[in-house]
Amino acid sequence: MPGSPSTVCAAALFLAAALLPGVPGNFGIKPLVFEEQLLWVGGGAGQVNTYRIPLVTFTKKGSLLAFSEARKQSSSDTGAKFIAMRRSTDKGATWSPTSFIVDDGSLADGLNLGSVVVDEETGSLFLIYSLCFHGFQCSPSSTLLVESRDDGLSWSAPRNLSVQLGVKSFAPGPGFGIQKRYPPSVGRLVVCGHGSIAGDGVFCILSDDHGGSWRYGAALKSIPYNQKKQALDFNPDECQPVEMVDGSIVVNVRNNYNYHCRCRIVVRSLDGGESLPVEELVFDHDLVDPAVAAGALQKEGILYFTNPSNAQHRINLTLRWSLNDGQSWEKEPVQIWAGPSGYSSMTSLRSDSTEDKKFIYIIYEKGHIDYAESISFVKVHLYGGR
Ligand SMILES: *[C@@H]1O[C@H](CO)[C@@H](O)[C@H](O)[C@H]1NC(C)=O
Ligand SMILES: *[C@@H]1O[C@H](CO)[C@@H](O)[C@H](O)[C@H]1NC(C)=O
Repeated sequence: MPGSPSTVCAAALFLAAALLPGVPGNFGIKPLVFEEQLLWVGGGAGQVNTYRIPLVTFTKKGSLLAFSEARKQSSSDTGAKFIAMRRSTDKGATWSPTSFIVDDGSLADGLNLGSVVVDEETGSLFLIYSLCFHGFQCSPSSTLLVESRDDGLSWSAPRNLSVQLGVKSFAPGPGFGIQKRYPPSVGRLVVCGHGSIAGDGVFCILSDDHGGSWRYGAALKSIPYNQKKQALDFNPDECQPVEMVDGSIVVNVRNNYNYHCRCRIVVRSLDGGESLPVEELVFDHDLVDPAVAAGALQKEGILYFTNPSNAQHRINLTLRWSLNDGQSWEKEPVQIWAGPSGYSSMTSLRSDSTEDKKFIYIIYEKGHIDYAESISFVKVHLYGGR
């Protein structure tokens, strides 16, 4: 009955919980698109034909950095590219002009992004990408890394990780890598990606010395491995790892050839990224997906997920959240964009301030006719704007 004491009491409790952002299991989550702006628009102006593959990260100092592939001549995955970056020091309100932090020249099969990972102990930022991933008019494929020690203002020359890792095709992410916060292997950097189509699967590379040396850890191989694929084969592809509060790593994976469902593969590592056992693999039928790179983020015990929520087409970019580590998803997802939308990635600022607990940040491919028209940044208020 409206206004009865118990209703008032329940409403007061609801309000109290909603006013306490960051309480795990909080039922006050009510995401609201707070601000949105286009960071990059393709269409040929200047030296860039198409911007794709957006990444966004926090930094230790509380800045936000956005990255994308700036494809010089065409929208093709191969071809020459820059890595474009913009930086915000005011929580996404304003952004620096674009700087091109890597230029691959005029390669037929240039660079591909990529994963960004923050070492929260040293403050270093690492951006890991591949060169000659497709082996198109080039050989071998290499995995490269650039590092920033000044909050993203300047970047090192590329370092060739293939000297340590070997020259197997490895496309990190796209998305972020993690630094383990909870046991096992606290402090470890974990970056997961995928192989070339024949040698596809999810592979994670690990560093236990703050990015100095890297080795291969977990693998979840495609079937048939290193052989030509056909429709409906098991082909785990682009992926986003997320560390849960219990120290497990949940990897949300593109199910490239729609094995078993048109939905996401979710696989868990219990040993800090050393293995991805099939016993820990599920198909999440609620996460309907057209085979795409999706975003995932764990913040204050709540798991967030973004993808174009449609079985066939890259449209309908949707934000979901789960209060139980992804076992189920809350019933009222938030639509970010109804139209064409492709790859997405998420981050949030990690300070203990109440303000930083209220927001997550999404970056995604957005268009009116084609999803690759532009790259958009969205600041989401998790508590309905309060
Ligand atoms: C990276 O190192 C590997 C292994 O030594 C080498 O084969 C490859 O050519 C190098 N790539 C680049 C871009 O220098
Ligand atoms: C968009 O996503 C929502 C949530 O999954 C779904 O209910 C709706 O049918 C989708 N719309 C389209 C056009 O795909």
